[in-house]
Amino acid sequence: MPGSDRQSWNQRYLAGEFGFREPDPFVMEAHKNYLQPLLRENLAPDADTGLDLAGGAGHHAIWLAQQGWRMALVDWSETALEIAKEKSAANSLPLEIVQGTALDVVTQSAQQGRRFGFVLVSFFLDRAVLPWLPKILIPGGILLYRTYTEDNERLGNPRGPRNAEHLLRSQELLEVYCGMKILHYNETVTSKGVTELIAQQPSSST
Ligand SMILES: C[S@@+](CC[C@H](N)C(=O)[O-])C[C@H]1O[C@@H](n2cnc3c(N)ncnc32)[C@H](O)[C@@H]1O
Repeated sequence: MPGSDRQSWNQRYLAGEFGFREPDPFVMEAHKNYLQPLLRENLAPDADTGLDLAGGAGHHAIWLAQQGWRMALVDWSETALEIAKEKSAANSLPLEIVQGTALDVVTQSAQQGRRFGFVLVSFFLDRAVLPWLPKILIPGGILLYRTYTEDNERLGNPRGPRNAEHLLRSQELLEVYCGMKILHYNETVTSKGVTELIAQQPSSST
């Protein structure tokens, strides 16, 4: 298993291991069912903004920008962000690209009062980041979270991290986000261990 530091991620992107690809069905379905209505209603000044945190080469951020969102893409890998930059330029899409650690970016955003209509986290876990995510959502904003669980290795999936630091416990996201409205929750327990959560900030929160 390759290391999980920034340089190892750069090497993985250089090797083409995480090339640019179609958005995952989870993101497209979530967009249709939960994000599109938010975009249409556009209730708050930042309701049309989205953050793809640890979004890699931007395959989700770019697709979401094509759907009309003002997207910010954050990753610590310069190599991944170079790919995203080329792709967004080739598609003439405005994309805010931020190189940095997820924790630094979310804490700074919260401190500066920056808010997003939605935040997407796909296959990334830093537990220190979790409590900050509701703080950077507008009231009624949506969190989409999906990543591997501790079940993953037991189920024999060769993909995904091995370090428990980067693996969710069963029900963990439900506990962390108990103050949010849970719109969708699923734990896959056959062939791979993956949790999906879609949750909404209460509309009266600040
Ligand atoms: C498995 S990839 C997922 C990429 C993308 N979200 C997706 O679903 O394809 C994990 C990403 O997290 C990034 N990453 C890992 N730790 C990070 C951190 N502490 N801060 C920012 N990015 C990080 C890596 O560079 C990599 O792009």
